[in-house]
Amino acid sequence: MIYRIALIALAAANLALSGPALAQSAAQRGGALVKQHCAACHAIGASGESPNAKAPPLREIARKYKVEDLEEAFAEGVMVSHQATEMPPFTFDPPQIGELTAYLRSLKAGNP
Ligand code: HEC
Repeated sequence: MIYRIALIALAAANLALSGPALAQSAAQRGGALVKQHCAACHAIGASGESPNAKAPPLREIARKYKVEDLEEAFAEGVMVSHQATEMPPFTFDPPQIGELTAYLRSLKAGNP
């Protein structure tokens, strides 16, 4: 019984450690960002169709562009090809940009 309590305590400690943002990798936080901001239109995973047929899946975007170039575009808050389209302009702060590009890199590597 005492043993079991110790185990539960350990599990709780683990959970606390991996709590919001702390133990998560940048790519995981980027995944949360794209889920929140991009998934309404773009497919954000390793497979699947975009909800908005005109929006290319992020994995294709990750392959088509150099992630460094995207980083720049995100930083400027301008999506060059987004003018006069449905996609709203986004501005991200530098840590978020790092997370977004980390996620795109992981997509490119095929393991989101
Ligand atoms: C309201 C729908 C919508 C949302 C939300 C959205 N997009 Fe888009 N996005 C589009 C559409 C439609 C296109 C393709 C047409 C265009 O260029 O605007 C596109 C194109 C793009 C392109 C250019 C692709 C290319 O081949 O040139 C990038 C990069 C991109 N989106 C990234 C993102 C990211 C990152 C997010 C989240 C932060 C996001 N989009 C959120 C609709 C959306």
